[in-house]
Amino acid sequence: MLDRYGRNINYLRVSVTDRCNLRCQYCMPADGVKNIGHAGILSLEEIARMVRIGAELGIRKVRLTGGEPLIRKNLNQLVSYINEMDMIDDIALTTNGILFAPLAEKLKAAGLNRVNFSLDSLNEGKYSYITRNGDLHKVVQGIEKALELKLHPIKINVVVIKGFNDDELLDFADLAYNYPLHIRFIEFMPIGDLLFWNPKRMMSVAEIKQVIQKKYPLGEEYALKGNGPARYYSIESGQGSLGFISPMSNHFCAKCNRIRLTAEGKLRGCLHDQSEINLKTFLSQGASDEELKDLFMKAIRSKPNQHHMDTGWGEENHRKMYQIGG
Ligand code: GTP
Ligand code: 5AD
Ligand code: SF4
Repeated sequence: MLDRYGRNINYLRVSVTDRCNLRCQYCMPADGVKNIGHAGILSLEEIARMVRIGAELGIRKVRLTGGEPLIRKNLNQLVSYINEMDMIDDIALTTNGILFAPLAEKLKAAGLNRVNFSLDSLNEGKYSYITRNGDLHKVVQGIEKALELKLHPIKINVVVIKGFNDDELLDFADLAYNYPLHIRFIEFMPIGDLLFWNPKRMMSVAEIKQVIQKKYPLGEEYALKGNGPARYYSIESGQGSLGFISPMSNHFCAKCNRIRLTAEGKLRGCLHDQSEINLKTFLSQGASDEELKDLFMKAIRSKPNQHHMDTGWGEENHRKMYQIGG
């Protein structure tokens, strides 16, 4: 499925809920967000139907996101619906990891292939601060469980924030050296309510690499299984690798392969573009597969060629990260 700019769209990111069991400083206000309630979100069956329609149009990879996807009841049921679709060859999850350990076996049995964890600090107190009371031990248990179940490649997303975790870059790199984990350093982006945002807090990938290279000269760039924008490097004699995601300093829009479905049933062509197509009304009014396919195509045609966070991000960030799922 090609968009107006010749990009092949084969990756669907599905936000299954906009709720979260954490309140990260840069993502959610301290008192949480208004709950859209059950009636406002797609049912698991409606999501599965939209994934199938996407698959018929060329979607091959699906990632479940949130909010926090693991707070959605019976998520394993959705995984197994998707797993039954022959055309989908990769089912992945992005989670904060708090609830992963107890749910992992069921998810794997349902067909989950791999998991990315969001983890911005390896220090208990700092983790609790940035997530507003999250328990680092639970995330560690989740990562251990993913290792035990061999849900490889297992990736850790680290949003790098100057003055918060820029002193931990080498600790994260040590983790990739010692374990088969792929650490991805992400540039902090101005998105959502800009709660914690300050341009001074953004550390570019070039700056991050400079720190890393002091201990770990970056080896060959290589392709790690994945569908996202990260670029990976091996570490000599290390078990895992280091990845970098540079939406700010070197955006990857020309290679963008994805489209997003929000929990409320809106198809969104770009993380940073407000245009969305609301499927929920069509679904509840009994739209046919053909009508839904047309809407899917319309969303793909409306994908912009690139984001403009560097010049005018103000109006572009109407929606929050927890509503889109990253
Ligand atoms: P893999 O399939 O494992 O490569 O996953 P992924 O990197 O696509 O998924 P993940 O949810 O772990 O995304 C990592 C982060 O990359 C996101 O949370 C965003 O911060 C960033 N990111 C992913 N896609 C986009 C995008 O289209 N635009 C921008 N600006 N950032 C993105
Ligand atoms: N900038 C960069 N990454 C962000 N994420 C959430 N908000 C931001 C932001 N402002 C990341 C999370 C998670 C992924 C889904 O998105 O840390 O890893
Ligand atoms: Fe929850 Fe992810 Fe937002 Fe943190 S970044 S509050 S884990 S949705």
